[in-house]
Amino acid sequence: MLAFGNSLKIIKIAYIHQAIPLGYQLIKKENGRYRNLLSRLCLISFTGIRRPRCWKKPGNSRSTASPKLAAALEGTLDRSWVDKTLEASGCEIIFGRYEQHQFCEEWIMKVFVRSPIHPDAVALLRADPRVETVTWDDPAAGEWEKEADAVILRGMNISGDEIRRAARLKVIGRHGAGVDAVDMEAAKDKGIAVMNTPFENSQSVAELAVALMMAAGRRVVEATRLVGEGKWVEGRKGTGCRELYGNTAGFVGYGRIAKMAAGILRNAFSMKILAYDPLLGAADWKAMREEVTPCASLKGLFAACDYVSLHVPKTRDTAGMVSADVLAAAKKGLVLVNTARGGLVDEEALCEALRNGTVGGAAFDVFEHEPLDPASPLLRLPNFIATPHYAGATQECLRRVATAIARETVAALFGEETPAYRYL
Ligand SMILES: NC(=O)c1ccc[n+]([C@@H]2O[C@H](COP(=O)([O-])OP(=O)(O)OC[C@H]3O[C@@H](n4cnc5c(N)ncnc54)[C@H](O)[C@@H]3O)[C@@H](O)[C@H]2O)c1
Repeated sequence: MLAFGNSLKIIKIAYIHQAIPLGYQLIKKENGRYRNLLSRLCLISFTGIRRPRCWKKPGNSRSTASPKLAAALEGTLDRSWVDKTLEASGCEIIFGRYEQHQFCEEWIMKVFVRSPIHPDAVALLRADPRVETVTWDDPAAGEWEKEADAVILRGMNISGDEIRRAARLKVIGRHGAGVDAVDMEAAKDKGIAVMNTPFENSQSVAELAVALMMAAGRRVVEATRLVGEGKWVEGRKGTGCRELYGNTAGFVGYGRIAKMAAGILRNAFSMKILAYDPLLGAADWKAMREEVTPCASLKGLFAACDYVSLHVPKTRDTAGMVSADVLAAAKKGLVLVNTARGGLVDEEALCEALRNGTVGGAAFDVFEHEPLDPASPLLRLPNFIATPHYAGATQECLRRVATAIARETVAALFGEETPAYRYL
């Protein structure tokens, strides 16, 4: 039996039934959001609103439940129990018939997935009876400004004007770590929750950082090119190739991703790990003293390391932090990897440092201007590797990120406790 506290205000009860009852839901409205208190719904309980494709229209005898489903519903909905519960709670009761689903429409939330995401995430949304999902390829996709209670964005921006025009919008789900694609001021002004997934791609990014260190250290891309050009013998010389084993790796920023990458390098290659992260305190360094040695200056890090990997966000402090001066301090043959953000490195100075051998090699996934211009002088250098900002584009990561943002967006819509990544 449900016990309702005094603070609870049930605004509407919908009781949907056709030949047999399909389900009901107790909803509370709180801070402009609907909160689901209790569902007695089976998967098809909102059939009256959105029938799964395999169901027929109302009136068609085949639209009633299968024997198995009917049995499930019998157990699910006990009308007298509902009445008693509602009476005790002093709630308003609204009975809606199957075809009078306008009672319920106001609390079915419409989630517009505006660009392709992993199919498992779409399936997750579609399986939620509280949600109507409109995908990027749906003819109604263009209606999102009028109808969306939530949008999920991947690789696209949402401007302040769009946010202001979107009448029903309550939640923006950003597929990925950064929220720079969202006009946060406009979202804040309208009280829109912005969700992101900062943790789900860390492993993939850390693995790419290590992969790029190895690829640049062993000049894998150049070797492939030489083979393709029939320069087998020249390729076999492996001029300038370096191992990871026993060498020193430096991290600029020692957060989640850096720690994962450092763990791989320590365990697999017995590398010594240094890090430059002035935002960490003495207690942090003390707790990590077995795994990493702090470096007091960026130049000091570059001077001491064979490999340096960048893992800081782009901020006023970090933009352009790897300057010509810092590059000039690099230990001979240093390999520089950037999987963090474009604009951290002075690309012109890097180009020069790679040409004159101050820096031995570099491999970047991110660039000041993306996509990187195919005419970029960096791409003409044999000791430079470029990847297309695809650190998070592994199958595993795409699934993790998409399902996380689908879950979190719906949780935020219904005011549930789980939004671990709530941004506003
Ligand atoms: N290539 C991709 O597709 C991709 C995917 C995910 C994340 N990223 C980027 O990777 C970077 C790191 O992500 P994370 O999850 O490890 O972040 P994190 O917040 O866990 O770590 C960032 C670290 O940088 C440090 N830092 C901040 N300002 C600094 C400064 N001025 N100097 C030195 N250190 C500073 C912080 O103290 C923190 O320890 C971010 O820029 C993120 O945007 C890129």
